[in-house]
Amino acid sequence: MAVLEKELITKLNKINKKDITDTSKIEISDEELANIDKEYCTYGDKIHSEPNPKVFRDCNGVFMYDSENIPFLDLEMWFASCNLGYKNKRIRDAVVNQIDTLPQISSHFQYDYKVLLSEKIAKANIERFGIKGRVHFNVGGSQVIEDAIKLVKNYTHKNRMFSFYGAFHGRTLGASCLTAGYRYRKPFGHFSEEAHFVPYPYCYRCPYGKHCESCNYYCVQQLRREFEDNCTGIYDHSSKECAMGAFFVEPVQGSGGYIVPPKEYFKELKKVLDDFGVLLVDDEIQMGFYRTGKLWAIEHYNVKPDIITFGKSLTNGLNPLGGMWAKEELINPEIWPSGRTHSTFCNNPIGMRAGYEVMSTFEEGNFEEEVANKGKYFLNGLKDLEKRHKRIGNVDGLGLALRIECVTEDGYTPDAELLNKIVSEGLKGDLIYNGEKCGLILNKGSHYNNTITLVPAVTISYAEIDMAIELIDQLFTRVS
Ligand SMILES: Cc1ncc(COP(=O)(O)O)c(C=O)c1O
Repeated sequence: MAVLEKELITKLNKINKKDITDTSKIEISDEELANIDKEYCTYGDKIHSEPNPKVFRDCNGVFMYDSENIPFLDLEMWFASCNLGYKNKRIRDAVVNQIDTLPQISSHFQYDYKVLLSEKIAKANIERFGIKGRVHFNVGGSQVIEDAIKLVKNYTHKNRMFSFYGAFHGRTLGASCLTAGYRYRKPFGHFSEEAHFVPYPYCYRCPYGKHCESCNYYCVQQLRREFEDNCTGIYDHSSKECAMGAFFVEPVQGSGGYIVPPKEYFKELKKVLDDFGVLLVDDEIQMGFYRTGKLWAIEHYNVKPDIITFGKSLTNGLNPLGGMWAKEELINPEIWPSGRTHSTFCNNPIGMRAGYEVMSTFEEGNFEEEVANKGKYFLNGLKDLEKRHKRIGNVDGLGLALRIECVTEDGYTPDAELLNKIVSEGLKGDLIYNGEKCGLILNKGSHYNNTITLVPAVTISYAEIDMAIELIDQLFTRVS
């Protein structure tokens, strides 16, 4: 504890106010920005999900700084895109070096870092799963999901896919067929084969009303029953042919509220998929790169995926790049020849260099142990808050993917309004820590819009975790 306290003091001294005038190149006030935005910017992206979007001017480590230079502890980290912290020096230096050497190259010419990054990821998967595969890149998460759908269709010649209640796999036309919320598809009519959605193992609110200690994976048994029945539309027993190509899964459900499935869940699910010839696509776009304490979250579950999709923290937020890895039989050059999928910027050198540096950082560090320990420490703090605040219904986590459910006075009914209040109070920047004004950036998610999903950088210190717990405590006290 003495070490922690010492670290806390040093760290807090480091939360220095920074002189922002040296970095802001255009002098423009928050108000002027808002006026121009109102006139010329679309409201179709997510900025306007809040009536007055918060303006930030600087970032460093796990903090964002607003126009008054108030530090905001960030527990969202660009939706899990900056696992190694803002302005990470090593990755920044590599990107600057790439800008100074080979910043641009057409995607049909060869160069070093694209090949070397592919090798790193392919070898990491040989080490983890004992499977030889190949890597294919694209410009972001949704585009990678599109590519994975193509890969599955190309190999299986099946149109239909499984996905989970609460799943989020992106908003492009194909990816939104796997995203569960109807709101993502409603304005755009019918454009592709919608996934067959089945319940996620959300044990705190089990859709079957079971208890995970005694249910014997009832939800997986239900899925097996769908296959065993000849008349559910998914399997023909006489030809032994399945209508479904793949099951797209998030190993810990991200936008659905950081739901952690029980230990044996994916093993049980994989047995069903193997028995009926369905591929497993493991979407690690949000949970990959040590968010849960492993390179891929699926490693906690001891199953071998056929395809892995990744993005976000691949470049630590320094370039929109994603990729998919697939085992050789699905993606070898005979079955997946040149041009099956491609985009002008898919092999861009700045993203590849950032990705290479991110992978190297993870290879060289001891993140497995560190994230597991920090995750336990953070979760213990949350459990303590759960005991003291009636309006916290459930806390849970795997590594540094953590959750808090906001509930009403009865201790269980989801309270979306309370969540909204907490998030907007955090953004006011008037919390006090160590005598200084500060704010807290929190992310919202889940099936019932009532869950805080905590996504700290994996480089967060114990002192900063203490600060996070204290600020969450202040927020619940303020709104309850
Ligand atoms: C699991 C998962 N898949 C896919 C996506 C889509 O990625 P992008 O927003 O980069 O298109 C996301 C984004 O949040 C995600 O969390």
